Amino acid sequence: MKFFVDTANLKQIEEAQDLGILDGVTTNPSLMAKEGISGVDSVLSHYKAICDLVDGDVSAEVISTDFEGMVREGENLAQIDDKIVVKVPMIKEGIKAIRYFTDNGIKTNCTLVFSAGQAIMAAKAGATYLSPFIGRVDDISWDGMELIEQISNIYAIQGFSTQILAASIRNPLHIVKAAEAGADVCTCPLSSILGLLNHPLTDIGLAKFLADHKKSSN
Ligand code: G3P
Repeated sequence: MKFFVDTANLKQIEEAQDLGILDGVTTNPSLMAKEGISGVDSVLSHYKAICDLVDGDVSAEVISTDFEGMVREGENLAQIDDKIVVKVPMIKEGIKAIRYFTDNGIKTNCTLVFSAGQAIMAAKAGATYLSPFIGRVDDISWDGMELIEQISNIYAIQGFSTQILAASIRNPLHIVKAAEAGADVCTCPLSSILGLLNHPLTDIGLAKFLADHKKSSN
């Protein structure tokens, strides 16, 4: 399973890249706004800065909700760097835009996905990635991981090549369960990635190793 970090914060992206396990980045309009990035020029240069930090794909989301606007924005974004993946919301105009991008060799990430039906539509349009939002499904006491399992089964049966990019990750357990459920990618807050490292028995064991070593060296 690939690890993407879900942020527009350059320091967090750098820290994730330095770990040596990062495969890409996803952003969205809320994450960009959180970094205070606005205006076409600063948006484009910020995405370029992200591309220069990492080796893998970088999802950059369009703001337009009409086909012509999505295509105009997406072609602009795609010119930034070969790593750019144009992120498009799961709406009718978005499916038309994904088909256009697919036919023109531009990578896409279909986002705001909450059902298997939507996942089938995105695969039919040729989306490179599909972003089902696990955390937001859980937030309304439905089972987000069941959605990943259902989509994974359908994609395997139908031979769809769209990569399942588990998104809206809330904690390290979501990452583990997404791997079990068959996600191809998991895009996570840095805190959830780092949280995978934590276990009290590791800390206790290392402390004892070091204490025993110190005792034997005296
Ligand atoms: O960026 C897409 C998705 O990961 C956002 O999830 O629910 O944390 O805003 P959320």
